[in-house]
Amino acid sequence: MEMTTSGAGGVTKLDDDDYPSAAAADRCPPGTEKKMCRRVLLVGSLVTLPLLAFFVFSRENASVAWLQVAIAQLTATNDDDGAAGTRVYGGRRSSWPRAHDEFLGGLLAPGMDRRSCRSRYQSSRYYKHFPFAPSPHLLQKLRGYEARHRRCAPGTPLYAKAVEQLRSGHSAEGGTECSYVVWLPFDGLGNRMLSMVSGFLYALLTGRVLLAALPPDSSDLFCEPFPGATWRLPAEDFPVANLFGVGQDMERSYTKLVDGMVAANATAGVAPSYVYLSLGWLLRDGLFFCGEHQLALRRVDWLLLYSDLYFAPSLYAVAEFQDELRRLFPEKESVHHLLSRYLLHPANPVWSMVTRYYRAYLAPAARRIGVQIRMFDHASIPADDMYGQILNCSRQEHVLPETDDVGEAAPSPTASSGGSKNPTTAIFVASLYADYYRRLTSRYSAAKGGGATRRVGVFQRTHEERQATESLAHNQRALAEIYLLSFCEELVTSGLSTFGYVSSGLAGIRPAILLTAFDHVVPETPCRRAASIEPCNLTPPRGVECLSRPADKDDLARHVRVCEDFKDGVKFFD
Ligand SMILES: *[C@@H]1O[C@H](CO)[C@@H](O)[C@H](O)[C@H]1NC(C)=O
Ligand SMILES: *[C@@H]1O[C@H](CO)[C@@H](O)[C@H](O)[C@H]1NC(C)=O
Repeated sequence: MEMTTSGAGGVTKLDDDDYPSAAAADRCPPGTEKKMCRRVLLVGSLVTLPLLAFFVFSRENASVAWLQVAIAQLTATNDDDGAAGTRVYGGRRSSWPRAHDEFLGGLLAPGMDRRSCRSRYQSSRYYKHFPFAPSPHLLQKLRGYEARHRRCAPGTPLYAKAVEQLRSGHSAEGGTECSYVVWLPFDGLGNRMLSMVSGFLYALLTGRVLLAALPPDSSDLFCEPFPGATWRLPAEDFPVANLFGVGQDMERSYTKLVDGMVAANATAGVAPSYVYLSLGWLLRDGLFFCGEHQLALRRVDWLLLYSDLYFAPSLYAVAEFQDELRRLFPEKESVHHLLSRYLLHPANPVWSMVTRYYRAYLAPAARRIGVQIRMFDHASIPADDMYGQILNCSRQEHVLPETDDVGEAAPSPTASSGGSKNPTTAIFVASLYADYYRRLTSRYSAAKGGGATRRVGVFQRTHEERQATESLAHNQRALAEIYLLSFCEELVTSGLSTFGYVSSGLAGIRPAILLTAFDHVVPETPCRRAASIEPCNLTPPRGVECLSRPADKDDLARHVRVCEDFKDGVKFFD
């Protein structure tokens, strides 16, 4: 594991060799990382102590601050979203066709320019599964969100006003109509996609507008997701500098700020105009997942979100969000699936790569199996073992075609060769290395079982041997592979890999997850079948004590549980 020191508080950041910028989320896992994780958690809980003191103090002293939070006030967020959704979609709700509906059951709003984002209109033809219809409440919430986004987007008077307020250094205290979550880039592509979806969910829950500060390496990856307005933050004209290198500048992270006020016995009556939220693998702001802090944050117009994780499951621990999430997503397993299909659409250049490749190699097959291999440095094993693990997993979960059937018809000349013209099964390999592709190819070329039913083609689009998170072209190729994986009927993914998480979520598939070789030991169980499509939150908040009304504990315990591939992570289950 390559380690670099990132300045901030002497905390160590792990550099990943992951796929494509899927530079894994794979953050605080095992082995070497453990020590560091513990340190982070410890820091987190130390911060909590003065905070509690602060709250006790602040409740006694009426002059104190924007943070003074009456816990009793915690009420569900008003649903002030417009009724546009009802108008447009009313009456059609119960009868949406689930397959090949280009608007995905009303999930996507009609009326956007088809040519500017072809994937938005075409992807439904490629996905093999659409297991969950969006709830009417979600649809209404999305249409309300879109209307809000149009009112508040860059270029509007309300946006200009909110930026002016930001310049002033303090919050408008209810004087602005629009409040924002600004997504900041952090980590590889898979991580970024997960935090975008989580940030969007948070914006939905809190009546905010999601804007993305897109760095050059991601500027042409995704289409504009919202009709009639941009989601790009005009970073050049933004009063907060250095948005693309924030990691170090966590002085304004929410917890630090609160901590500072406690130390200074501050009695400032006004909320700051912005705070950073550190919700990634370092998780400095575990307090974020407390209701009382959510109430305090309501008064801050600009939240700058710095995360590389899928933190959605942890929002369920906040009572008011829990109620709303239940209404939005009757099936918890559908959160990432529906939101990622709503929000993320590959831009035309990426979409061209995806569709060209799909048509040439994957479309001819009757069945497509995606195999995504991610080897972490801290959990590396020899390629032989990895390959053995893949085959053992495949046997256990009945994924790849078996080759050891004897006594079948003689092999046909074209049968079973890697890349054969009309394979019945196409195996699409996404990996940094060509190793597994070569082995699988020769496995099926050498296979005895013949006949049309045994024809297998093995395909790999790229193998770059190393990651290059900073390059746009690299990220485009990586994104293309995520979508190609998501168009498969079956998936084998690598545990802890955000690349695999995102692919499964988009696909709507419960993958067979290859377990990680912690401490370089080949796991005894090669893989586990996911019990939920949802991605894992690899760094959930721990040891944070909240004062607010607790969430329904039984419900929480039932729906947010330990991940199949990581005992310290949690995810949504039904
Ligand atoms: C904080 O300041 C107030 C007056 O502004 C004072 O009464 C109180 O004792 C101070 N608390 C601490 C912990 O210093
Ligand atoms: C695969 O399974 C075989 C038979 O159970 C076992 O001997 C072998 O060690 C396994 N290989 C790996 C890499 O898990």
